[in-house]
Amino acid sequence: MANPRLIEEAPPIRSEFLPFSRPEIGEEEIEEVVQALRSGWVTTGPRTKEFEHRTAEYIGAKHAIAVNSCTGGLHIALAAIGVGPGDEVITSPLTFCSTANVVVHLGATPVFADIREDYNIDPAEIERRITPRTKAIIPVHFGGQPCRMDEILALARAHGLRVIEDAAHAIGATYRDRMVGTIGDATAFSFYPTKNMTTGEGGMVTTEDDELAERMRLLSLHGISKDAWKRYTSEGSWYYEVIYAGYKYNMTDIQAALGLHQLAKLNRFLDLRASMVARYEQAFRDIPEIRRPVVGDDVCPAWHLYAIQLELERLTINRAEFVEALRAQNIGSSIHFIPVHLHPYYRDRYGYKPGDYPRTEHTYERIISLPLFPGMKAQDLEDVIAAVTWIVQKHRR
Ligand SMILES: Cc1ncc(COP(=O)(O)O)c(C=O)c1O
Repeated sequence: MANPRLIEEAPPIRSEFLPFSRPEIGEEEIEEVVQALRSGWVTTGPRTKEFEHRTAEYIGAKHAIAVNSCTGGLHIALAAIGVGPGDEVITSPLTFCSTANVVVHLGATPVFADIREDYNIDPAEIERRITPRTKAIIPVHFGGQPCRMDEILALARAHGLRVIEDAAHAIGATYRDRMVGTIGDATAFSFYPTKNMTTGEGGMVTTEDDELAERMRLLSLHGISKDAWKRYTSEGSWYYEVIYAGYKYNMTDIQAALGLHQLAKLNRFLDLRASMVARYEQAFRDIPEIRRPVVGDDVCPAWHLYAIQLELERLTINRAEFVEALRAQNIGSSIHFIPVHLHPYYRDRYGYKPGDYPRTEHTYERIISLPLFPGMKAQDLEDVIAAVTWIVQKHRR
């Protein structure tokens, strides 16, 4: 590791800015996109079908439905299980706003349950929040680490609830040797550019349930059924019927062209992420000002994020100042997440306020996601470690 004193004499540690994340797109993806464009089939078509098939195979799921985002995937999954006005849906406050926004879109009420020290929703807190109106639970696999799914499924069974997983971060993760995407009623993945694999924008929903799969497929494209005509008329192949007031969430073949090659590389990406995390873990082990992520021994995370917490009581600067200090060293970082219940919409509409979810708020004040992406070089990683170490030493209490 670089000598922190030397760095202090010659900051910044890097001349070039290191982003928090950057997608790893190769010539194969570029060539496939060009071929899709040349084929004349640019919206949902053969490449999307193939991408669904291969994703289902990778996860070991019965059905995979490609959509234009994880947000869209969560929305149609909740709609397909019948979430509507008067219902409550329990989720984590430490998530991206879309997990809760889609509940609002359906006229239902998002109810938050506080987190555990592993950043994931606490099953005991879920249980406390269950009411006769509760319809579903959305566990969010924060940073790619699966939630306590057996406990969550047991609660769901006991109270007749459905489980829709937000696996935006977690493609490739396992929980007790089960792949995420085969556990709850339905699971939504994200292929946003920062995620473990990308299609530019995009997502996938998986399920083992044939009926749910059929409903989500219809909802993803206007609620149009091409088979319905068989039941009622003798009209030709141009005829279709609208079974639901569905959405326009289909994936395009241009996106799927990227996805086919990203999926083929996913295990390599995940291995690279895990090896970088191992280096971070080793480097920060003896720094008491840094709290490393807590990982259960029955999970294999997909390491979308490496989110540390600052022990603020041991430092003279706060988290925002730490982020600025990293930036001054040309190191990017990100904050996951501003707790959803603290956003103005959720405060104004539902009366949430600071203090409602103490563990989430305590975490939020301390958490920082450090750069982690497959294209990071060994020196990039050492630069982050040196910068974090130096900032800690400079601002130690
Ligand atoms: C936890 C979580 N859920 C959902 C989403 C939404 O994913 P998408 O951008 O694919 O809609 C994100 C994306 O940032 C996320 O981090």
